[in-house]
Amino acid sequence: PVTLKEAFKDDFYVGAALNGRQVNNMDAQGVALIEKEFNTISPENLLKWESVHPQPDAYNFEPADNYVALGEKNDMFVVGHALVWHNQTPKWVFEDEQGNPVSREVLLKRMEDHIKTVAGRYKGKIDSWDVVNEALNDDGTLRQSKWMQIIGEDYLQKAFEFARQADPEMELYYNDYNLWKPEKRAGAVRLVRSLQEKGIKVDGIGMQGHYGIKSPALEEVEASIKAFSDLGVKVSFTEVDIDVLPNPSGRAGADIDATFDFDEKFNVYTTGLPDSVQQQLAQRYADLFALFRKHSDKIDRVTFWGVTDNDSWLNNWPIRGRTSYPMLFDRQYQPKPAYNAVLETAAK
Ligand code: G3I
Repeated sequence: PVTLKEAFKDDFYVGAALNGRQVNNMDAQGVALIEKEFNTISPENLLKWESVHPQPDAYNFEPADNYVALGEKNDMFVVGHALVWHNQTPKWVFEDEQGNPVSREVLLKRMEDHIKTVAGRYKGKIDSWDVVNEALNDDGTLRQSKWMQIIGEDYLQKAFEFARQADPEMELYYNDYNLWKPEKRAGAVRLVRSLQEKGIKVDGIGMQGHYGIKSPALEEVEASIKAFSDLGVKVSFTEVDIDVLPNPSGRAGADIDATFDFDEKFNVYTTGLPDSVQQQLAQRYADLFALFRKHSDKIDRVTFWGVTDNDSWLNNWPIRGRTSYPMLFDRQYQPKPAYNAVLETAAK
């Protein structure tokens, strides 16, 4: 096989998250790579509340329309991300004109209008929505977000109900990070089971997959694939990247190769990514894809959170000036050793 989508066509969809430059035709090389390699796409930022619905009565659909059109033109599986989240949601959503918190009724109405307007617009075009994103703490308890504080626990149920009403045919997902952690895995199982008990159909659980070179242990990832699949839902890896730098935020990253000059202040290798780390990245991706293939009966899609190293949110985060190398393609749009390593797992 010569492309990712062909290599895994009998296993799962393979995709990438798209940014504004790509959907607005300012990155022709990136788009060419997307059209060649992937059969599913996700919107990195442009369908989040602050992008698509910045003001109470103002929607900004143009980038999202372009995104959906790109997917349709290429016959791709088009994903929506994310209807209800605590991040990248404007402050006005939770406040009245005096800046006081709105009532449960008002917030539920705003949520309903938003979901029905946005998901409704793309009915039959967006194939799967992340309905609720990151509702859990790492210990498996529910995050005390504004949604939770103002509406209460049933905001989850309501979000899924509104989304189902907006488009009865599309897939509805719960999406989160660190779902490999045992306590958080248990929390996600409780969350989805409790929705199912209320008669809500959850189609899938999205495991984001922001990983490091060593952490998490793949046994933990595997345990979550099995536990979620046992709920009768699909499992997808929705935001895959592997950080090759130590991460000052405490998130999974990598050890520094001390034989190379490393700038601690900006969290960068001054002479570029060492070969040794390049090889570790390739091996880690190969191990991960071997696991995905082992469970291809349970896994529906695997989506990278960007296309090239240049696109990744792991640049500049958590430090401005940070230069990371988490993807399969380098800054010149060339496949890295990790790309070949992933393709090789398909041949085995
Ligand atoms: O658009 C503005 C631009 O006008 C401004 O000049 C620039 C200067 O800071 O900021 C731009 O906005 C940034 C935006 O990305 C678009 O690039 C924001 O500052 C930045 O915070 C935002 O980061 C996004 C992040 O979510 C925010 O939560 C990342 O791109 C995006 O990759 C990331 O994606 C999330 C998933 O949605 C959920 N799971 C975790 C994942 C990674 O954090």
